[in-house]
Amino acid sequence: MKIAIIGAGNMGGATALGLKRCLPEDEITVTARHAGTLEKYSKAGMKATLDNSEAVRDADVVIMAVKPWLLHEVLSPLLPLMDGRILVSFAAGIPAATLKEWTEGARLSGVYTVIPNLAIEIGESMTFINEVSGNEESLAIVKGLFDSTGKSMVVDEKQLGAGMMVASCGTAFALRYVRATMEGGIELGLYPKQALEAALQTVKGAADLADAHGTHPEQEIDRVTTPGGITIRGLNAMEEAGFSNAVIQGLKIWK
Ligand SMILES: NC(=O)c1ccc[n+]([C@@H]2O[C@H](COP(=O)([O-])OP(=O)(O)OC[C@H]3O[C@@H](n4cnc5c(N)ncnc54)[C@H](OP(=O)(O)O)[C@@H]3O)[C@@H](O)[C@H]2O)c1
Repeated sequence: MKIAIIGAGNMGGATALGLKRCLPEDEITVTARHAGTLEKYSKAGMKATLDNSEAVRDADVVIMAVKPWLLHEVLSPLLPLMDGRILVSFAAGIPAATLKEWTEGARLSGVYTVIPNLAIEIGESMTFINEVSGNEESLAIVKGLFDSTGKSMVVDEKQLGAGMMVASCGTAFALRYVRATMEGGIELGLYPKQALEAALQTVKGAADLADAHGTHPEQEIDRVTTPGGITIRGLNAMEEAGFSNAVIQGLKIWK
């Protein structure tokens, strides 16, 4: 399976590194505007070129990871070279109807909007996939690709925004929780390094626990909230300060 990633920036680069964990590196080609951006990837054994056409010609799946406002201009000249290829766009804000219009007449075997998160780099992404056009075979290829770099979920177009807020922006939201926990931990007497290690491991452990048990988070919370104890008092103090509401409001800025 040969993959071309057009735009090896934050998300394209992270995707290249994530895919390298499960594909031979010479099956991954990355492109960028500047040679400096590509050095890291060619050093890692991937093919790297400033020529998008060259990358696309050699690929089965083309991932467009340029900024959304550049997508049309960068994609248009490549479409005539993409017969039979699958197109994946990372641009969440571009509606399916617009992607259909931009790709009209191109002989693609599928068009997908895909929203990964930054943890794709370490094979731990939560990725949302929306089929703009395609068939069972092309969907299986795209889903397989993003299942190999974490978990993926196929959703309706109207759910993509929610997916992006929860999982893609959610990476930043979760890390802000970690930072707040660090700050509190330091005030209570931990050194920053200790507070960071403890906060990260606690978040990871809590997520893995709920995932392993398949439980609602509140069921695990119930197990640690002794009546009159410090955990319930801590939770209530956080809620009084607007914790759940702040998270929900942050997610809802997409609407
Ligand atoms: N960041 C996220 O968390 C996230 C999550 C999900 C989806 N996305 C989506 O992913 C896409 C990329 O976002 P990003 O944050 O990764 O942007 P970014 O860091 O700015 O990366 C964009 C890359 O595109 C390259 N580029 C620009 N023009 C090009 C051209 N004509 N040909 C080839 N490469 C070109 C740039 O090359 P140079 O470096 O050489 O200038 C840069 O490496 C966007 O659609 C965004 O909405 C991002």
